[in-house]
Amino acid sequence: MVVGTGAVVVTGGAGGMGAAIARALIVFGPLILADLDTDRLEPVRRDLADAGASVEIAVCDVTKDADVVALGERVGALGGLRALAHTAGLSPQMADGRTVLDVDLVGTARVLDALAPHAGPGTAAVCVGSIAGYADLAPELDPLLDDPLAGGFLDEVAARLTVPFDGTIGYVLAKRGVMRACERLSGPWGRQGARIVSIAPGLIDTEMGRLEMTDSEIVTALIKATPIKRPGHTPLPGSVRDIAALVAFLCSDTASFISGCDIRIDGGLIGSGRIPPPEHHNPLAQRRLEAPAEGNKTRSPLTKSSVADRDRNLLQTRRLLDGDE
Ligand SMILES: NC(=O)c1ccc[n+]([C@@H]2O[C@H](COP(=O)([O-])OP(=O)(O)OC[C@H]3O[C@@H](n4cnc5c(N)ncnc54)[C@H](O)[C@@H]3O)[C@@H](O)[C@H]2O)c1
Repeated sequence: MVVGTGAVVVTGGAGGMGAAIARALIVFGPLILADLDTDRLEPVRRDLADAGASVEIAVCDVTKDADVVALGERVGALGGLRALAHTAGLSPQMADGRTVLDVDLVGTARVLDALAPHAGPGTAAVCVGSIAGYADLAPELDPLLDDPLAGGFLDEVAARLTVPFDGTIGYVLAKRGVMRACERLSGPWGRQGARIVSIAPGLIDTEMGRLEMTDSEIVTALIKATPIKRPGHTPLPGSVRDIAALVAFLCSDTASFISGCDIRIDGGLIGSGRIPPPEHHNPLAQRRLEAPAEGNKTRSPLTKSSVADRDRNLLQTRRLLDGDE
Protein backbone atom coordinates (compact mmCIF):
# COMPACT_ATOMS: atom_id res chain seq x y z
CA MET A 1 0.00 0.00 0.00
CA VAL A 2 1.29 3.47 -0.92
CA VAL A 3 0.95 6.10 1.76
CA GLY A 4 1.04 9.60 0.30
CA THR A 5 2.79 12.57 1.82
CA GLY A 6 2.54 16.32 1.48
CA ALA A 7 -0.07 19.02 1.96
CA VAL A 8 -3.82 18.69 2.26
CA VAL A 9 -5.63 21.45 0.38
CA VAL A 10 -9.23 22.35 1.16
CA THR A 11 -10.72 24.99 -1.13
CA GLY A 12 -13.84 26.75 0.08
CA GLY A 13 -12.23 26.10 3.46
CA ALA A 14 -14.29 28.77 5.20
CA GLY A 15 -17.54 27.27 3.92
CA GLY A 16 -19.92 24.78 5.48
CA MET A 17 -18.56 21.63 3.86
CA GLY A 18 -15.00 22.92 3.59
CA ALA A 19 -14.58 23.57 7.32
CA ALA A 20 -16.07 20.19 8.25
CA ILE A 21 -13.92 18.36 5.71
CA ALA A 22 -10.78 20.15 6.89
CA ARG A 23 -11.39 18.92 10.42
CA ALA A 24 -11.78 15.36 9.15
CA LEU A 25 -8.54 15.58 7.15
CA ILE A 26 -6.28 16.86 9.95
CA VAL A 27 -4.62 13.46 10.26
CA PHE A 28 -3.59 13.35 6.60
CA GLY A 29 -0.97 16.12 6.71
CA PRO A 30 -0.42 19.87 6.98
CA LEU A 31 -3.57 21.70 5.94
CA ILE A 32 -3.89 24.62 3.55
CA LEU A 33 -7.31 26.20 3.95
CA ALA A 34 -8.09 28.28 0.88
CA ASP A 35 -10.99 30.68 0.38
CA LEU A 36 -11.85 34.20 -0.69
CA ASP A 37 -11.06 36.17 2.43
CA THR A 38 -9.03 36.05 5.58
CA ASP A 39 -11.85 37.22 7.87
CA ARG A 40 -13.85 34.05 7.22
CA LEU A 41 -10.84 31.76 7.08
CA GLU A 42 -9.21 32.87 10.33
CA PRO A 43 -11.85 31.52 12.78
CA VAL A 44 -11.76 28.13 11.04
CA ARG A 45 -7.95 28.12 11.17
CA ARG A 46 -8.00 28.92 14.91
CA ASP A 47 -10.51 26.21 15.58
CA LEU A 48 -8.44 23.60 13.73
CA ALA A 49 -5.19 24.74 15.33
CA ASP A 50 -6.88 24.36 18.76
CA ALA A 51 -7.71 20.80 17.72
CA GLY A 52 -4.02 20.19 17.09
CA ALA A 53 -3.84 20.71 13.34
CA SER A 54 -0.90 22.11 11.44
CA VAL A 55 -2.84 24.61 9.38
CA GLU A 56 -2.26 27.70 7.28
CA ILE A 57 -4.66 29.83 5.28
CA ALA A 58 -4.44 30.99 1.68
CA VAL A 59 -6.53 33.70 0.12
CA CYS A 60 -7.33 32.17 -3.23
CA ASP A 61 -10.02 33.12 -5.70
CA VAL A 62 -10.33 30.12 -8.01
CA THR A 63 -11.21 32.42 -10.92
CA LYS A 64 -7.81 34.10 -10.67
CA ASP A 65 -4.85 32.38 -12.30
CA ALA A 66 -2.27 34.08 -10.11
CA ASP A 67 -4.01 32.99 -6.87
CA VAL A 68 -4.28 29.40 -7.99
CA VAL A 69 -0.72 29.25 -9.29
CA ALA A 70 0.48 30.58 -5.91
CA LEU A 71 -1.53 27.84 -4.18
CA GLY A 72 0.21 25.24 -6.35
CA GLU A 73 3.62 26.70 -5.50
CA ARG A 74 2.86 26.54 -1.80
CA VAL A 75 1.89 22.88 -2.13
CA GLY A 76 5.17 22.24 -3.91
CA ALA A 77 7.05 23.92 -1.07
CA LEU A 78 5.31 21.63 1.43
CA GLY A 79 6.54 18.54 -0.41
CA GLY A 80 3.66 17.78 -2.76
CA LEU A 81 -0.06 17.06 -2.61
CA ARG A 82 -1.39 14.41 -0.23
CA ALA A 83 -5.05 15.32 -0.72
CA LEU A 84 -7.32 17.89 -2.29
CA ALA A 85 -10.89 18.54 -1.20
CA HIS A 86 -12.22 21.05 -3.69
CA THR A 87 -15.44 22.55 -2.31
CA ALA A 88 -15.19 26.18 -3.50
CA GLY A 89 -18.30 27.05 -5.39
CA LEU A 90 -21.39 29.16 -5.95
CA SER A 91 -24.97 27.92 -6.07
CA PRO A 92 -27.71 28.87 -8.54
CA GLN A 93 -29.14 31.66 -6.38
CA MET A 94 -25.78 33.32 -5.84
CA ALA A 95 -24.93 34.61 -9.31
CA ASP A 96 -25.73 34.61 -13.00
CA GLY A 97 -24.99 31.48 -15.05
CA ARG A 98 -21.75 32.70 -16.54
CA THR A 99 -20.30 33.51 -13.12
CA VAL A 100 -21.48 30.20 -11.64
CA LEU A 101 -19.94 28.27 -14.54
CA ASP A 102 -16.72 30.25 -14.24
CA VAL A 103 -16.34 29.55 -10.51
CA ASP A 104 -17.73 26.01 -10.37
CA LEU A 105 -16.26 24.49 -13.53
CA VAL A 106 -13.47 26.73 -14.88
CA GLY A 107 -12.30 27.23 -11.27
CA THR A 108 -12.22 23.47 -10.72
CA ALA A 109 -10.20 22.94 -13.88
CA ARG A 110 -7.80 25.70 -12.87
CA VAL A 111 -7.22 24.18 -9.42
CA LEU A 112 -6.71 20.68 -10.83
CA ASP A 113 -4.35 22.02 -13.47
CA ALA A 114 -2.22 23.84 -10.89
CA LEU A 115 -2.10 20.95 -8.44
CA ALA A 116 -1.62 18.06 -10.88
CA PRO A 117 2.17 18.52 -11.10
CA HIS A 118 2.32 18.00 -7.31
CA ALA A 119 0.26 14.79 -7.32
CA GLY A 120 2.10 11.53 -6.86
CA PRO A 121 1.76 8.05 -5.38
CA GLY A 122 -0.93 8.13 -2.68
CA THR A 123 -2.46 11.49 -3.67
CA ALA A 124 -6.26 11.70 -3.66
CA ALA A 125 -8.35 14.53 -5.08
CA VAL A 126 -12.05 14.86 -4.29
CA CYS A 127 -14.07 17.48 -6.17
CA VAL A 128 -17.51 18.40 -4.92
CA GLY A 129 -20.06 18.20 -7.70
CA SER A 130 -23.79 17.90 -7.13
CA ILE A 131 -26.82 15.81 -7.99
CA ALA A 132 -27.46 18.65 -10.44
CA GLY A 133 -24.80 16.96 -12.56
CA TYR A 134 -27.32 14.15 -13.21
CA ALA A 135 -29.75 16.47 -14.97
CA ASP A 136 -31.03 15.35 -18.32
CA LEU A 137 -28.84 17.24 -20.79
CA ALA A 138 -28.71 17.14 -24.56
CA PRO A 139 -25.80 14.79 -25.39
CA GLU A 140 -24.02 17.35 -27.56
CA LEU A 141 -23.58 19.57 -24.54
CA ASP A 142 -21.30 17.15 -22.72
CA PRO A 143 -18.19 17.48 -24.93
CA LEU A 144 -18.59 21.25 -24.82
CA LEU A 145 -17.90 21.06 -21.09
CA ASP A 146 -14.64 19.14 -21.48
CA ASP A 147 -12.19 21.97 -22.12
CA PRO A 148 -13.04 24.69 -19.62
CA LEU A 149 -9.59 26.29 -19.75
CA ALA A 150 -9.80 26.89 -23.51
CA GLY A 151 -9.92 30.55 -24.50
CA GLY A 152 -13.48 31.71 -25.11
CA PHE A 153 -15.02 28.76 -23.23
CA LEU A 154 -17.68 30.82 -21.45
CA ASP A 155 -18.56 32.69 -24.67
CA GLU A 156 -18.89 29.41 -26.54
CA VAL A 157 -21.26 27.98 -23.94
CA ALA A 158 -23.27 31.21 -23.86
CA ALA A 159 -23.55 31.14 -27.66
CA ARG A 160 -25.01 27.61 -27.58
CA LEU A 161 -27.84 28.50 -25.23
CA THR A 162 -31.17 29.80 -26.34
CA VAL A 163 -32.42 30.09 -22.79
CA PRO A 164 -31.31 32.77 -20.37
CA PHE A 165 -27.92 31.81 -18.97
CA ASP A 166 -29.15 31.96 -15.40
CA GLY A 167 -27.56 30.59 -12.26
CA THR A 168 -29.42 27.31 -12.46
CA ILE A 169 -28.31 26.57 -16.01
CA GLY A 170 -24.74 27.54 -15.12
CA TYR A 171 -24.84 25.26 -12.07
CA VAL A 172 -26.18 22.21 -13.92
CA LEU A 173 -23.58 22.59 -16.68
CA ALA A 174 -20.76 23.19 -14.19
CA LYS A 175 -21.52 20.17 -12.03
CA ARG A 176 -21.87 17.89 -15.06
CA GLY A 177 -18.50 19.22 -16.24
CA VAL A 178 -16.91 18.49 -12.84
CA MET A 179 -18.10 14.86 -12.95
CA ARG A 180 -16.75 14.43 -16.46
CA ALA A 181 -13.42 16.03 -15.57
CA CYS A 182 -12.85 13.63 -12.67
CA GLU A 183 -13.61 10.64 -14.88
CA ARG A 184 -11.38 11.90 -17.68
CA LEU A 185 -8.45 12.89 -15.48
CA SER A 186 -8.28 9.51 -13.74
CA GLY A 187 -5.99 8.40 -16.60
CA PRO A 188 -3.31 11.09 -16.32
CA TRP A 189 -3.58 11.26 -12.52
CA GLY A 190 -3.37 7.47 -12.36
CA ARG A 191 -0.15 7.48 -14.34
CA GLN A 192 1.27 9.59 -11.51
CA GLY A 193 -0.04 7.11 -8.93
CA ALA A 194 -2.81 9.50 -7.90
CA ARG A 195 -6.59 9.14 -7.67
CA ILE A 196 -9.33 11.60 -8.49
CA VAL A 197 -13.08 11.39 -7.87
CA SER A 198 -16.12 13.63 -7.66
CA ILE A 199 -18.91 13.43 -5.15
CA ALA A 200 -22.51 14.47 -5.74
CA PRO A 201 -24.18 15.70 -2.57
CA GLY A 202 -27.95 15.91 -2.34
CA LEU A 203 -29.65 18.31 0.04
CA ILE A 204 -27.04 19.26 2.62
CA ASP A 205 -27.70 21.61 5.49
CA THR A 206 -25.26 24.48 4.98
CA GLU A 207 -25.74 28.19 4.43
CA MET A 208 -25.73 27.52 0.70
CA GLY A 209 -28.22 24.67 1.01
CA ARG A 210 -30.62 26.84 3.01
CA LEU A 211 -30.27 29.72 0.58
CA GLU A 212 -31.38 27.45 -2.25
CA MET A 213 -34.48 26.53 -0.25
CA THR A 214 -35.74 30.05 0.11
CA ASP A 215 -36.57 30.46 -3.54
CA SER A 216 -37.27 26.97 -4.76
CA GLU A 217 -40.54 25.14 -4.29
CA ILE A 218 -38.98 22.12 -5.94
CA VAL A 219 -36.41 21.77 -3.14
CA THR A 220 -39.23 21.23 -0.67
CA ALA A 221 -40.59 18.52 -2.93
CA LEU A 222 -37.15 16.94 -3.23
CA ILE A 223 -36.78 16.82 0.55
CA LYS A 224 -39.99 14.80 0.67
CA ALA A 225 -38.74 12.58 -2.14
CA THR A 226 -35.44 11.73 -0.44
CA PRO A 227 -35.80 8.09 0.65
CA ILE A 228 -33.61 8.40 3.73
CA LYS A 229 -35.68 10.19 6.37
CA ARG A 230 -33.94 11.82 9.26
CA PRO A 231 -36.28 13.17 11.85
CA GLY A 232 -34.58 16.07 13.57
CA HIS A 233 -32.39 16.94 10.59
CA THR A 234 -34.05 20.15 9.44
CA PRO A 235 -34.51 21.88 7.18
CA LEU A 236 -32.27 19.71 4.99
CA PRO A 237 -31.66 16.01 5.58
CA GLY A 238 -27.94 15.77 4.74
CA SER A 239 -25.24 17.11 7.03
CA VAL A 240 -21.67 18.29 6.57
CA ARG A 241 -20.61 15.40 8.83
CA ASP A 242 -21.88 12.97 6.15
CA ILE A 243 -19.80 14.77 3.54
CA ALA A 244 -16.69 15.00 5.74
CA ALA A 245 -16.80 11.27 6.53
CA LEU A 246 -17.09 10.35 2.85
CA VAL A 247 -14.24 12.65 1.83
CA ALA A 248 -12.01 11.30 4.62
CA PHE A 249 -12.71 7.77 3.42
CA LEU A 250 -12.00 8.67 -0.21
CA CYS A 251 -8.71 10.32 0.74
CA SER A 252 -7.65 7.36 2.86
CA ASP A 253 -5.59 4.47 1.57
CA THR A 254 -8.58 2.20 2.25
CA ALA A 255 -10.07 3.77 -0.89
CA SER A 256 -6.94 3.13 -2.97
CA PHE A 257 -8.82 1.36 -5.80
CA ILE A 258 -11.44 4.09 -6.23
CA SER A 259 -10.80 6.62 -8.99
CA GLY A 260 -12.44 8.20 -12.02
CA CYS A 261 -16.01 8.02 -10.78
CA ASP A 262 -18.73 10.03 -9.11
CA ILE A 263 -20.16 9.00 -5.76
CA ARG A 264 -23.62 10.20 -4.86
CA ILE A 265 -24.34 11.13 -1.27
CA ASP A 266 -27.97 12.12 -1.52
CA GLY A 267 -29.99 9.80 0.72
CA GLY A 268 -30.97 7.77 -2.35
CA LEU A 269 -32.71 10.63 -4.14
CA ILE A 270 -31.33 10.16 -7.66
CA GLY A 271 -31.12 6.36 -7.51
CA SER A 272 -34.68 5.93 -6.27
CA GLY A 273 -36.18 7.57 -9.34
CA ARG A 274 -38.81 9.06 -7.04
CA ILE A 275 -38.68 12.24 -9.03
CA PRO A 276 -40.56 12.81 -12.28
CA PRO A 277 -39.06 11.22 -15.39
CA PRO A 278 -36.26 13.16 -17.01
CA GLU A 279 -38.16 13.96 -20.19
CA HIS A 280 -40.51 16.04 -18.12
CA HIS A 281 -38.23 17.85 -15.83
CA ASN A 282 -34.85 18.72 -14.55
CA PRO A 283 -35.23 18.79 -10.76
CA LEU A 284 -32.86 21.65 -10.18
CA ALA A 285 -33.23 23.59 -13.39
CA GLN A 286 -37.01 23.41 -13.41
CA ARG A 287 -36.67 23.37 -17.16
CA ARG A 288 -37.09 20.77 -19.83
CA LEU A 289 -33.79 20.15 -21.55
CA GLU A 290 -34.16 18.96 -25.11
CA ALA A 291 -31.93 17.93 -27.97
CA PRO A 292 -31.97 20.55 -30.74
CA ALA A 293 -34.57 20.12 -33.41
CA GLU A 294 -33.47 18.37 -36.61
CA GLY A 295 -31.78 20.92 -38.90
CA ASN A 296 -30.86 23.14 -35.97
CA LYS A 297 -27.95 21.20 -34.58
CA THR A 298 -25.67 24.10 -33.88
CA ARG A 299 -27.92 25.92 -31.46
CA SER A 300 -30.54 25.25 -28.85
CA PRO A 301 -29.27 22.30 -26.85
CA LEU A 302 -31.25 23.74 -23.98
CA THR A 303 -34.82 24.64 -24.65
CA LYS A 304 -36.65 26.69 -22.13
CA SER A 305 -39.84 25.14 -20.93
CA SER A 306 -42.88 27.32 -20.70
CA VAL A 307 -44.21 28.40 -17.36
CA ALA A 308 -47.09 25.99 -17.99
CA ASP A 309 -44.59 23.15 -18.42
CA ARG A 310 -42.91 24.04 -15.19
CA ASP A 311 -46.13 24.23 -13.27
CA ARG A 312 -47.19 20.88 -14.68
CA ASN A 313 -43.87 19.39 -13.61
CA LEU A 314 -44.30 20.70 -10.09
CA LEU A 315 -47.79 19.28 -10.02
CA GLN A 316 -46.48 15.90 -11.15
CA THR A 317 -43.88 16.04 -8.42
CA ARG A 318 -46.53 16.70 -5.82
CA ARG A 319 -48.81 13.93 -7.10
CA LEU A 320 -45.92 11.51 -7.12
CA LEU A 321 -44.99 12.45 -3.59
CA ASP A 322 -48.54 12.46 -2.30
CA GLY A 323 -49.04 8.98 -3.71
CA ASP A 324 -45.92 7.90 -1.98
CA GLU A 325 -46.88 8.68 1.54
N1 LIG B 1 -25.23 22.56 0.37
C1 LIG B 1 -25.75 21.75 -0.52
O1 LIG B 1 -26.90 21.31 -0.39
C2 LIG B 1 -24.94 21.32 -1.73
C3 LIG B 1 -25.49 20.31 -2.54
C4 LIG B 1 -24.76 19.88 -3.62
C5 LIG B 1 -23.52 20.43 -3.90
N2 LIG B 1 -23.02 21.41 -3.11
C6 LIG B 1 -21.69 21.92 -3.45
O2 LIG B 1 -20.85 21.79 -2.32
C7 LIG B 1 -19.81 22.77 -2.35
C8 LIG B 1 -19.70 23.44 -1.00
O3 LIG B 1 -20.93 24.02 -0.69
P1 LIG B 1 -21.36 24.51 0.78
O4 LIG B 1 -22.75 24.05 0.95
O5 LIG B 1 -20.31 24.17 1.75
O6 LIG B 1 -21.43 26.09 0.51
P2 LIG B 1 -20.69 27.31 1.24
O7 LIG B 1 -21.24 28.52 0.57
O8 LIG B 1 -20.82 27.19 2.70
O9 LIG B 1 -19.16 27.12 0.83
C9 LIG B 1 -18.66 27.46 -0.43
C10 LIG B 1 -17.36 28.22 -0.23
O10 LIG B 1 -16.80 28.50 -1.53
C11 LIG B 1 -16.19 29.78 -1.44
N3 LIG B 1 -16.07 30.38 -2.76
C12 LIG B 1 -17.06 30.91 -3.52
N4 LIG B 1 -16.54 31.43 -4.65
C13 LIG B 1 -15.20 31.22 -4.60
C14 LIG B 1 -14.11 31.55 -5.45
N5 LIG B 1 -14.29 32.23 -6.61
N6 LIG B 1 -12.86 31.18 -5.09
C15 LIG B 1 -12.65 30.52 -3.92
N7 LIG B 1 -13.64 30.19 -3.05
C16 LIG B 1 -14.90 30.55 -3.39
C17 LIG B 1 -17.12 30.59 -0.54
O11 LIG B 1 -16.45 31.72 0.00
C18 LIG B 1 -17.55 29.56 0.49
O12 LIG B 1 -16.75 29.63 1.65
C19 LIG B 1 -20.17 23.71 -3.49
O13 LIG B 1 -19.38 23.39 -4.61
C20 LIG B 1 -21.63 23.38 -3.78
O14 LIG B 1 -21.99 23.61 -5.12
C21 LIG B 1 -23.70 21.88 -2.03
